[in-house]
Amino acid sequence: MEQILSLQEMKEFCFKLTQKLTVPHLITLEGELGAGKTQFTQFLTSGLLKEHQAHSPTFSLINEYSGWKFPIYHVDLYRLENAKDLESSGFWDLFDEEALIIIEWSNLLDEKFIPKSWPRWHIKIEHIDTIADKRKITMS
Ligand SMILES: Nc1ncnc2c1ncn2[C@@H]1O[C@H](COP(=O)(O)OP(=O)(O)OP(=O)(O)O)[C@@H](O)[C@H]1O
Ligand SMILES: [Mg+2]
Repeated sequence: MEQILSLQEMKEFCFKLTQKLTVPHLITLEGELGAGKTQFTQFLTSGLLKEHQAHSPTFSLINEYSGWKFPIYHVDLYRLENAKDLESSGFWDLFDEEALIIIEWSNLLDEKFIPKSWPRWHIKIEHIDTIADKRKITMS
C-alpha cells in the first residue's frame, strides 16, 4: 500500500513501475470514476513513449499506442455492454501478442478467461481524502 500525495508523486510511482516492467504484462486498474485510472495510464505510458498519447478510449474499447518496443493497448471497459461486444472488439486476441495491456474497469471482465501465464499487476486507486490530489494505491 502506498500513499500518494500529489500528481508528481503519482508520476514518480508510475515511472518506478515502468522500470520493473517485463513483457508481456497485464495491468488491471480498479477505482471509482475519477480515481485516476486514466491519469495513471498517461503517466505510465509517457515513461515508455516519446509522445504523450494516452487518453480514454472514447469511441472504441481499445486504444493502441505505438512507439515503444512492444505494442501498448489501453482498454477502458466502462461502457462495455456485454461479453459479445468484448469478443467482437478483438480484445481477447490482444493476449496472442507480446504486449503491455492496461485495463480500466477490469472488474467487468470474466476473470476466468484472463491467461494465467501473463504477469499481472492489479492496482487499486482510491481517493480517500478531501485533499484533491491525494490517493491510496494498493497493488497486488
Ligand atoms: N494523485 C493523483 N493521481 C491520479 N489522478 C489525480 C491525482 N491527483 C489529481 N488527479 C486528477 O484526478 C483526475 C482523475 O481522472 P481520471 O480520468 O484519471 O479518472 P479515471 O479513474 O480514469 O475515471 P473514469 O472511471 O471516469 O475513467 C484527473 O484530472 C487527474 O489529473
Ligand atoms: Mg478513465
